[in-house]
Amino acid sequence: MATDSSARTSATTTVTITGAGGQIGYALLFRIAAGEMLGPDRPIRLKLLEIPQGVRSAEGAALELQDCAFPLLRDVEVTDDPAAAFDGCSIALLVGARPRGPGMERADLLAANAGIFGPQGAAINAGAADDVRVVAVGNPANTNALIAAASAPDIPADRFTALTRLDHNRAIGQLTDVLDARADEIARLAIWGNHSATQFPDVSHAVVRGEPVIAALASRLGAEAGAWLDEVFIPRVAKRGAEIIEVRGSSSIASAANAAIGHVRDEQAGTPWTSAAVVSRGEYGVPEGLVCSFPVSSDGSGYRVIEGLRVDGRARDRIDASVAELVAERDAVRALGVL
Ligand code: NAD
Ligand code: LMR
Repeated sequence: MATDSSARTSATTTVTITGAGGQIGYALLFRIAAGEMLGPDRPIRLKLLEIPQGVRSAEGAALELQDCAFPLLRDVEVTDDPAAAFDGCSIALLVGARPRGPGMERADLLAANAGIFGPQGAAINAGAADDVRVVAVGNPANTNALIAAASAPDIPADRFTALTRLDHNRAIGQLTDVLDARADEIARLAIWGNHSATQFPDVSHAVVRGEPVIAALASRLGAEAGAWLDEVFIPRVAKRGAEIIEVRGSSSIASAANAAIGHVRDEQAGTPWTSAAVVSRGEYGVPEGLVCSFPVSSDGSGYRVIEGLRVDGRARDRIDASVAELVAERDAVRALGVL
């Protein structure tokens, strides 16, 4: 009789990556094929979805994947057909999205992405494996996940998430500097709201080496601690994407891929605490159905919002502001007749 571990060893997991010929795709593929996302005991079949103009780039990446001779990698398929790409898929990373172009308004961007994430959600609904889990990386990530979920009525909505792990990691990166701590010494940080400049990176429950971060900041910065949080930490984390674009000349790539891998790995392997955008069930007063970032945990069967945390008035205002933006995005998509 097969033991659990031998059954796992023999099962091949189909992972679909959209926009696989793009920059984040290139930073993702080799780490996934090396086992960094699902672990060293899970063979992988990769399905790379691109638009016709991106297919050659994805095919080139597929050649390089072959040249790496990864022991876990069973197969790589490149396609521009969403039905083929999501057929049998257990994990979908929705990276490919339409970037904002010159003169494009927010509504134009939402409309363009609805035309991508709607059909992809429908293809996931039609052909993905029963255990499929989906994470939207392409922006506007929260609302793209909402659109995909709405287009997949036969799949439980809680299988659809959006990436705010990059914001979570960015916040930890800022704290390690000021607290002179290692990243793994900081826990219980929370990103609330939208993956945008309105998000709320919240340290009020965070601890460093077991001590509340608020107390550790007060010891380090004295009376300046509150101002540092409000005027440096929160805006820096919330606007880090723009800072990277300004300094690099293009948006974050490796850190985004790293965050996407961490998001899927912790959802599958389990974690006591991280941040992810999940479909709200009304937790913390966030309207039901919005894809909103919360502090979450996973027991290996999917992210669940960590409930019962104290939210003070200032935090409430910041969360409400970001949720208002999510509501406006949802309403704009509804006005297009997509939801
Ligand atoms: P990129 O332009 O290098 O790659 C995007 C790829 O998607 C391109 O190869 C393009 O051909 C492909 N694509 C476009 N439409 C597609 C479709 N309908 N189906 C399949 N593929 C499609 O961009 P990138 O740097 O890889 O970034 C991808 C997305 O991720 C952007 O929307 C970016 O803003 C977003 N992003 C999100 C986060 C986050 O934390 N959530 C962080 C960084 C970047
Ligand atoms: C990021 O956070 O780096 C990305 O979402 C890119 C952006 O436009 O900010």
